[in-house]
Amino acid sequence: MPAPAASDRLWSGGYEEATHPLVQSMNASVRYDQRLWRQDMIGSVAHATMLRDQAILPQADYQAILEGLRAIYADVESGQFVWQEAREDVHMNIEAALRDRIGAPAGRLHTARSRNDQVALDERLWLRQRLGEIVELIASFVETLARLADLHADWPMCGYTHLQRAQPVTVGHHLLAHAQAQLRDADRLLDACRRLDVCPLGAGALAGTTLPIDREKTAHLLGFSKITANSLDAVADRDHLVEAMAAAALGAVHLSRLGEEIVLFASSEFGYLRISDAFTTGSSLMPQKKNPDAAELVRGKAGRVIGDLVALLVALKGLPLAYNKDMQEDKEPLFDALDTWRDCLAVTRDMIAAARWQKASLIEALDRGFLLATDLADALVAAGIPFRTAHEQVAHLVAQLHANQQTFSKVGPQALAEKLGLDVGVVRKALDVKQALRRRDLPGGPHPSQVRREVRQALKRVGQLRQAAQRWLQPCPAEQLLLATGAKLPETAAL
Ligand code: ARG
Repeated sequence: MPAPAASDRLWSGGYEEATHPLVQSMNASVRYDQRLWRQDMIGSVAHATMLRDQAILPQADYQAILEGLRAIYADVESGQFVWQEAREDVHMNIEAALRDRIGAPAGRLHTARSRNDQVALDERLWLRQRLGEIVELIASFVETLARLADLHADWPMCGYTHLQRAQPVTVGHHLLAHAQAQLRDADRLLDACRRLDVCPLGAGALAGTTLPIDREKTAHLLGFSKITANSLDAVADRDHLVEAMAAAALGAVHLSRLGEEIVLFASSEFGYLRISDAFTTGSSLMPQKKNPDAAELVRGKAGRVIGDLVALLVALKGLPLAYNKDMQEDKEPLFDALDTWRDCLAVTRDMIAAARWQKASLIEALDRGFLLATDLADALVAAGIPFRTAHEQVAHLVAQLHANQQTFSKVGPQALAEKLGLDVGVVRKALDVKQALRRRDLPGGPHPSQVRREVRQALKRVGQLRQAAQRWLQPCPAEQLLLATGAKLPETAAL
């Protein structure tokens, strides 16, 4: 690779030797940070507008910069823009392209700004939008789960502990358990958004600037509520990335648990669920196979998102204030974690929506698993027997039936009533699945009407999440200005 011309490096004044080619390639981040191009331009428009309003940037130069940026925007969008490794990163690629296009006025854009506060800004802008999108995605996933829960509110199903059949629940109840985890994930993101809502521009390289800038104005143009309180912290802080990626890691772990259940429940051993062909793949060798690849991948990808989080934490660990080049290593894990989580959410939502629950298998498993043993013991308790004795009596009975390959329903209520010394009507009632579910009629329980109540609450939360996400998805004034779609912006009245 030829050494870059000195003019490609915007910092090259005073340099006599070209950069070592391997260092140039290791140092360059444009391969992966070019996806921040939109945010970078929005930041530049806000910064230039503020400089113009502060009479630091002449109006004519401002106009040229704005028009130049708009033209570059169109080039990048249409795929015509050529990214150059010699220009190192997204920031310098765009600034150098602006210089190529408009000449001298481009040299004024970077007044009172450093790539250190620029990259800190770009990442915040990118992240707040991505988190807004993920909150919307979680809302649609929860909506899917809630609608399925409503349809299956009274479908009985084995509930498990230790993956051993334990007590009856409903399919609706089981699905809503996953919805609750999703709701917490969305809350975590909204909480992280609140803390990332501060504008770092003006921090400069580390110590601000001697020029009379207006930080509040820049923050307003970029849609931030506040400005950062300390310039060293502003360029050193990557907490918001860590928080978002920690939320991503936990979110991916939640999805992996559901992925594992889909793998299990769709196996012939369980037979509870049929996955749509759209989410399985065949084996190149065994003609009968339909493998639940999508569910397995959702289960597997949690590992990589956790790895991304750990990579960032380790990169940050022990770094002195303020900016250090190590921090450039934040981007690949950030993008990977949030892309992977987003894709896993969408795939899981669509896979669960298209899957079909198998009622007959669900009911058969309940009987084979003696799931109503606790209900029988409770019936003995109601007849005056201490719970410990009742527990022992039913345990012996189950062991006996199991050894003889019998089930409660095969033996029938009459024989069971005799063995336990109970009224046959009482036993019949204890072993009726529908009644068993109805007996669990408490808030948060598996009773169908409780499930329906939880569905209504979840759908209400979905509406609230969608509304909250809008805050982070609306274009800020600087973006409107760049795209020239903004109607009236007081700061730009002179244009
Ligand atoms: N590409 C750099 C990054 O992502 C931008 C900031 C570089 N700052 C500097 N002083 N070299 O971190």
